[in-house]
Order: sequence, then structure tokens, then C-alpha cells
Amino acid sequence: MALRNVFGAIGIATLALAGAGLMPAAAAAQTAPATPAALAGVAGDWLVVPRRTPDSIAIGGIPRSFRLTVEGGTVKGLFRFNGWDYPIANWVARPDGHAFDLTGKPPFVKMRARATADGRFMDIWIGDEVVGVAPFLARRVTATELAAIERSAPRPDNMTKLPLPAPRDLGVRNLAPVPPMGWNSWNVFREAVDDRSVRAMADVLVRSGLRDAGYRYVTIDDGWQGQRDAAGVLHPNAKFPDMKGLVDYIHARGLKVGIYSSPGPVTCTGYVGSHGHEAQDAKTFAAWGFDLLKYDWCSAGNIYDTRVEMQARYQIMGAALQATGRDIVYSLCQYGLYDVGSWGNAVGGHMWRTGGDSIEGDLWHAVDYRFDHNGDARDAGPSAWNDADMMLVGIDGLTPEEYRTHYTLWTMAASPIILGNDLRVMTPAVKAIVANPGVIAVGQDRAGVQGRRVAQAGATEIWSKRLADGSTAVALFNRGAAPAAMTVDWRSLGLPVPKRVRDLWHDADVPAAADYTVQVPRHGAVLLRAS
Ligand code: GLA
Repeated sequence: MALRNVFGAIGIATLALAGAGLMPAAAAAQTAPATPAALAGVAGDWLVVPRRTPDSIAIGGIPRSFRLTVEGGTVKGLFRFNGWDYPIANWVARPDGHAFDLTGKPPFVKMRARATADGRFMDIWIGDEVVGVAPFLARRVTATELAAIERSAPRPDNMTKLPLPAPRDLGVRNLAPVPPMGWNSWNVFREAVDDRSVRAMADVLVRSGLRDAGYRYVTIDDGWQGQRDAAGVLHPNAKFPDMKGLVDYIHARGLKVGIYSSPGPVTCTGYVGSHGHEAQDAKTFAAWGFDLLKYDWCSAGNIYDTRVEMQARYQIMGAALQATGRDIVYSLCQYGLYDVGSWGNAVGGHMWRTGGDSIEGDLWHAVDYRFDHNGDARDAGPSAWNDADMMLVGIDGLTPEEYRTHYTLWTMAASPIILGNDLRVMTPAVKAIVANPGVIAVGQDRAGVQGRRVAQAGATEIWSKRLADGSTAVALFNRGAAPAAMTVDWRSLGLPVPKRVRDLWHDADVPAAADYTVQVPRHGAVLLRAS
């Protein structure tokens, strides 16, 4: 869910949600007084359910619920989110939607809710214009049903501050000399990820040749966790009956395997996190054979407020991973807060996200945003990667040209390339984009340089990245809505006139002269390798 931690971070992509008019604006405009009938329509117990399977109960995380009662002519109650309670205040009922505030930490004002005509479901929007707005679907349940669901749900512990270690530089082992490439379950499966789908993705990586093209990590994101046993050991949920067997299966195919947890007691989607169990969980992950951990701030933001605290919580897991003796790539996911590039290595991290979730909201906006928000290039290098988030290539919502631009930008920015699409139904055109060897070579270049923008005119920009063999990758980007003729003048970029220039997407040489002019489509990119 974009609504991380509950509301800990600025997710730029989620801003688009509010902007895209998903909040019922009509609710704000209405001033008709509450009618008893309108109030009665929302009173009761509501369980947040997956939109695609609204009749199911929560798949395995902590249930999210609304308990609403009518008292003294207004609605009172609680929003229970991932284990935290937010009392509801200032409920204003209107014929076409309701507005309310959530008190608690942090408070949220002017939230919206609208019951469906049959009274069975309610659409609810929580968040704000700064942190992003997440739409939830809730289904009416009885108080008895809700109590039973809550009783059987995982119970996180350690929901308050724990002692912090003194900061120290753990140092980082060079386990990711070039930006990691692979596949992650979140963008396509979300909580529905299971053993079968992960095995299937590993099979496709092998069969399609993507493994040999460089995609090595298969990562299980949020939604695998079950409960802790009496000794505190975390077990997978029913969708993962044999975690060790799954990891062995993937390893046997020449791939590496990643897993996901949170420094908070609860993950972003309400599954059990590692707070207070770091050493134990690191041992469990190592014993299962995992090679990467994505560690997502989420509910830690309900407990900790400062950079020092955040760094300490990441340091605890970094040290725990190192203590296992297993080579585990440590992937920090805290949305680029607190200048993470300047301390990611010190806590043992190999890569760190530079922003919110690309998959939430308008996809072109999420790609376009990264032109200006890629982390500091000076922080990047072997085992220190600014992570622009998982790929949207192959996901509906972008044109083929936009896919190429997205891929080119991530490559130039030396970001990890973690596919997020369903590989089983990948079209040949999508495969051609993610498996282009010349383009991959730029991303995987062993010099580990993060490219930079070197020229900009209106919506067009040129990026350059020095490569290990002395050649230079140069990308021409057109962020504008109309095609543009763009010229690379090598000398004005401070480069010698090249002897050879290869257009990597077209896999063809182009004239090696003092300058090169090319038509770049709207939202398009041209990637050249000049030597
Ligand atoms: C956050 C992360 C996502 C994903 C989800 C899982 O939103 O940024 O990449 O891991 O949590 O809940």
C-alpha cells in the first residue's frame, strides 16, 4: 500500500492519486446537513478488503477496520490500521459522501468516505496531499465477524520504542559490484503472491533467457509472513508451505532469492515485521537460504521520528545480516528520506530507494519524476546504488516509447533493474526492451558511475555516463508531449568526437561526426554509446 507506515513518507507517485481526482471532490462542495438516515447508513463495523476479491477476508495481515457508531447525532469510532488505532472525529455526513478527521499520530484531516448504494461496501480515502492518498474498499461485517477475524490475525509485538545501538560504521561487503537485476513480486501480485507464482517466475527467467541476460534476483515482497511461534520465530503463511524448498528450487535454477521485512512491528500491508526480532529473523532468512533482504520502513514511522533513530533501526538489521555469515544483499526501502545515500553503506546497505512507489498513481508521472529525483550521483558506486524503484515495463499504463525511456533512465542512473511485470505473459516487444544486451551493458557497467544530466533545453535533456572501457553512454530524452529534433554536439559536452557511435536500442551504428541530430518521439529516448 502506498499508505506506508501509516503515513510516514512522501510518496510522489501517490500524489498523483489525489491529483487524478480519485477523491470525491463533490463531498467537499456539499453542505447539506446530516440526515439520520445518512448516518445510520454508515454506522456499524467495516473490514477493509482487497478490491479484486471484496468478499474475502484479509489474506493474512492484520485486519484494517472501521468501527462506527452514531452518538448524539454524529458518527464516532475508530480506524484500526495495521495494529494502531486512530479515533475518528468531526464526522460530517452528506448525501453523496462523508468527511471526517483521524486523530492519533499523525493526525489526518478531511478524509472521505462514501457508502455504495446497496450499503454493503464503503469507499474510503485516507492520507493527505503531502503524503499521498490511499483508497480503501471496506465491506460491512458484523461485530462478531470482525472480532473473530481480529482474534485469528497475527499479533505484532514491540509496538513501542526499543533501545537504539550507538551508531557505528558497519562497512559494506561488495556483494553488489554492479546494480542488482531481477524480478520482484509486488507490482504484479501484491498480497496474492504465493509459492507457485514465484516458482513460475523463476522458470520463466530461465526459459526466456532473462537469467542469462543478467536478471538474477527473484524477490518475494510483502505478503509471505505468517505468525511468530512461542519462541518468536517467524513462519510463513499458508501461501508458502515450504520456504526452504522454494528457495532451493530457485537456487537450483542458477538464480538468487530475495525476501522482505520491515524494521517496524508491521509491514506496509499489515504483516508481521522484524522490530525487536532482527537477529532472529536474519538467522531465519539465512537458514532458508535467502540472498537479499528488502527492508521497508513502514510502521517504524509510527514509532520513530528522527534520522538518528531510523539509521539505528537499519543498523540493527545490517549487523544482524552480517552476523549470519551469509552473503545477503541489503536493500533499504525508506523512500529516500534523510539523505539515505550518505549513510546507507554505514548500516551495511547495498542499495536504497530514492522515493515512493512508482506503481501507485499515474505511471508516466512516476517515470518523469525520476529525471529530477535520483539521489546524489556522488553516493553511487559498487554496492552503493540509488534505487529508483521497481520497473513498470510491461505494466499497463505506459506506451512502448515510455517503457524504453523508463528503462534508459534507470540504466543511465545506474539504478538496480528489478522487473515488476508478469513475466509469464510478457509480449515479445516487452521482452525486447528488457533483454537488449547493449542497453543492459550500460546499466551493468563495472565502473559503477551514476550518469548525470549534462544539457537541458525545454523538455529535452541529454545525460552522459562514463563507462569502464573509456567509452561514454549518452542518452537523449524528450520529456515533452511533442516529438523533438535533438542534437548531440560531442565537443560541447566536453567529449572528443567519437570514432564510433552505436544506437543501442536500434543496435546500429550512426554517423560519427562532430555532431549528431536525431528525431526523438514524445516521451522518448535515444541511447548512444560513443567510443
Ligand atoms: C511499500 C514499498 C513497496 C512494497 C510495499 C509492500 O509501499 O515501497 O515497494 O514493498 O510497501 O507493502
